[in-house]
Amino acid sequence: MFQNVEPTPLDPIIRLIGIFKADSRDNKIDMGVGVFRDSNGNTPIMSAVKEAEQRLHDQQTTKTYVGLSGDESFNKHITRMVFGDADTSRIRAVQAPGGCGALRVLSEMLSRVSSDSKVWLTDPTWGNHYPIFQGSGFETATYPYLNRTTKTVAVDELLDALSRRGPKDIVVFHGCCHNPSGAELQPEHWDEIARLAAKTGFFPFFDLAYQGFGDSLEQDAYSIRTVAREVESLVVASSCSKNFGLYRDRVGCAMIAGETSESADLACAQLLSTARSSYSMPPDHGAAIVGMILEDQELHQVWERELDGMRRRILELRVQMSDKLRTRTGHDRWDFIADHRGMFSLLVLDDEQVNRLRDEYAIYVVAGGRINIAGLRDEEEMDRFVDAFVTVTE
Ligand code: LMR
Repeated sequence: MFQNVEPTPLDPIIRLIGIFKADSRDNKIDMGVGVFRDSNGNTPIMSAVKEAEQRLHDQQTTKTYVGLSGDESFNKHITRMVFGDADTSRIRAVQAPGGCGALRVLSEMLSRVSSDSKVWLTDPTWGNHYPIFQGSGFETATYPYLNRTTKTVAVDELLDALSRRGPKDIVVFHGCCHNPSGAELQPEHWDEIARLAAKTGFFPFFDLAYQGFGDSLEQDAYSIRTVAREVESLVVASSCSKNFGLYRDRVGCAMIAGETSESADLACAQLLSTARSSYSMPPDHGAAIVGMILEDQELHQVWERELDGMRRRILELRVQMSDKLRTRTGHDRWDFIADHRGMFSLLVLDDEQVNRLRDEYAIYVVAGGRINIAGLRDEEEMDRFVDAFVTVTE
């Protein structure tokens, strides 16, 4: 069976995790995978999560199946978190195994209902978007996103490309904290995108993996809420890996906004049938915790405070890095780092520069030069990064 199997390259981010683990240098710095770390280099379990886990442990009386669409309290609260006070009568939510699982079931569902559509991804995008959409049978193409010189969004080119899309185009957006670039569309750009979507009829597909890591839980949802008000239908894949720190528990949500309540039900039935034929029912533990936190006022507050602290740390690191690079180099080429949002910035490095950072300085960044700024523990690591970075780039 397996003798003639073609070798399969591992996803670069997953491969990097392995290489980093195997590196025995004790001064190594991991700025690779998108995992939040505090100033001690830890990814702690959030206090609200710990408390909810304790309550769940004490209260849970059975491990029987929950159901195909998962925890309904979780689905209800995530829908509110994402769509705000929008009319939810035409929105359906299905708990999924992580943001990635949500992306995949939504993509499979869309391939059943519109197999001849084409999927448009930002250039650049999260590497796993390609196999997810292609694996569901879609042809993929890219639309302009990042100006690689200024490291800002190439807004004119992006809007121009979107103005040429139509009803057979599924356009994938990052709801906030663009991965890998860190460059953000501003509210007025989302207003324009919403108008274009309504005018041309392209289908918006939102990947929302970092809500709360950009400006705030509310502001990070501006994109989706604005577009949802203008278009007849869209989908959202959201993740609780980062904002609840529940990475390994695989907590995500696949959401559908339909033209009407009836069409939302039809699409949701397709989604559930897709889920049934792959993982069947989603894992319960993480979603039960999120549902409990969002339901309970006190836990909710504790969680939001901690999330605010995580976001503040990221923003402070951004300002620190751009200040240090300006002082060190005497120019403002790296000022964009302070304007980016989320954990990532794409510094646009070639393979040689990325390899030198790793081999000579024990600093790990993703191919292409994506850094996870929260991978820097303290000022000493920041200084080491700035020194190494300036040496390999200037
Ligand atoms: C990342 O982009 O590093 C994260 O989303 C983790 C992953 O699965 O790639």
